Amino acid sequence: MNKNKLSARDVFSSKFGVIAAAAGSAVGLGNIWKFPYITGVYGGAAFLFVYLGFIALIGLPVMLSELSIGRKSRSNVFGAFKNLAPGSPWKFVGMLGVAAAVMILAFYGVVAGWSIDYVVKAVTDNFATRSPNEMEAMFVNFIESPVSPVLYQLLFMLMTMAIVIIGVKDGIEKYAKFLMPLLVVIIIVLCLRSVTLDGASEGLKFLFNPDFSKLTADGILSALGHAFFSLSLGMGTLVTYGSYIDEKNNISVTALQVTIADTVIALLAGIAIFPAVFAFGIEPSSGPGLVFITLPNVFQQMPGGFFFSILFFLLLTVAALTSSISILEVVVAYFREELNLKRNFSTILATVMISIIGIFCSLSMGVLKEYTLFGLNFFDLLDWISANILLPLGGLFISLFVGWFLGRKKMEEELAKGASVVSWLLSVFIFLVKFIAPGAIAIVFLHGLGVFNFG
Ligand code: PFF
Repeated sequence: MNKNKLSARDVFSSKFGVIAAAAGSAVGLGNIWKFPYITGVYGGAAFLFVYLGFIALIGLPVMLSELSIGRKSRSNVFGAFKNLAPGSPWKFVGMLGVAAAVMILAFYGVVAGWSIDYVVKAVTDNFATRSPNEMEAMFVNFIESPVSPVLYQLLFMLMTMAIVIIGVKDGIEKYAKFLMPLLVVIIIVLCLRSVTLDGASEGLKFLFNPDFSKLTADGILSALGHAFFSLSLGMGTLVTYGSYIDEKNNISVTALQVTIADTVIALLAGIAIFPAVFAFGIEPSSGPGLVFITLPNVFQQMPGGFFFSILFFLLLTVAALTSSISILEVVVAYFREELNLKRNFSTILATVMISIIGIFCSLSMGVLKEYTLFGLNFFDLLDWISANILLPLGGLFISLFVGWFLGRKKMEEELAKGASVVSWLLSVFIFLVKFIAPGAIAIVFLHGLGVFNFG
């Protein structure tokens, strides 16, 4: 039965295509925009170390779990749980995932829109003569204005929609394959410039020299949430992509490669940004504008900065695109397989829905900024709820599902496809998904929400 379903569904055409698509999903605004800014907000190195711990102990095993669930079920995230655990409430984990996808793409498209605007600003040479303060004013003016950020957001959503309509093999895979490596090269160039600025060492200290007394419960929860966000976990993106991976592929290796690539790129983004933040006297905790304010200052200071700034924001937009298509694909696969809608129609429907919510996110930066809940505007609220609640909750259920419901034997069967399973590694994996990941998520979660307090 799996065979029939497989031939009717999309499949990635090569091993490199699988990695490029999965890494393309993981590497995005999360690494380059969000990671530096929340690391700044939560005080630097201590936050980073907690984040790295979560990546290794929770992120990696949950990623392997998602890929396994996807390939085993050959289904969208809702259908996956329905297939593997028929007649049980597990399918609601899939619903949670679809809801998270809608929320994340709504604000993600807004930030990606900012990135497109910065391509235009880079071309029209707006950065060349501005001081850090002026750079900040320019950013704030732009995101608060009611029209142009919305138009750029809609443009970005249209681009996302176009690629998803073309389909997995010709759309997603083809674009991801050659653009990601280019992005890495340019970030490395930025790092080299940033660490050689006067006063750069303070930034490296901030990023790598931890002061654990600065950690808060909220910071730890955010580190967990961001580990999920950055690796594209907890909502079924990698269940969906896993369902397109063929049985010759070693998904354990894929999970490891994607996790390493994602983490290295976040670290590189940190190394590109914090030395410059300190060198230019920018406040590290200045929030969502951090990258957009800091990097244009770096470009000013480098030979060929004009050219690099255009290329950088162009590639940031592309990195956002390889992530946004993976988020949209979660919703589209669900619409197609569960509601029996055609790919084109599903894609258009999902895009319109998400774009409308996204418009409110964008406006909540400016004209609607008075409307807040728990002190957060609509944009921050969607970001916070999806990353810090829905994704960890999804991750909790996914690890419980694999650890307790599927269990060692079925997982061994799945992981043995295209690979030879190393028994002790399998034991470590099962231990992590059975106990460590769910336990840690539950504790961080309840602690972060203030349900209990370790003092
Ligand atoms: N991982 C992406 C990033 O870091 O930009 C964002 C993302 C993609 C989050 C897919 C969640 C997801 F399912």
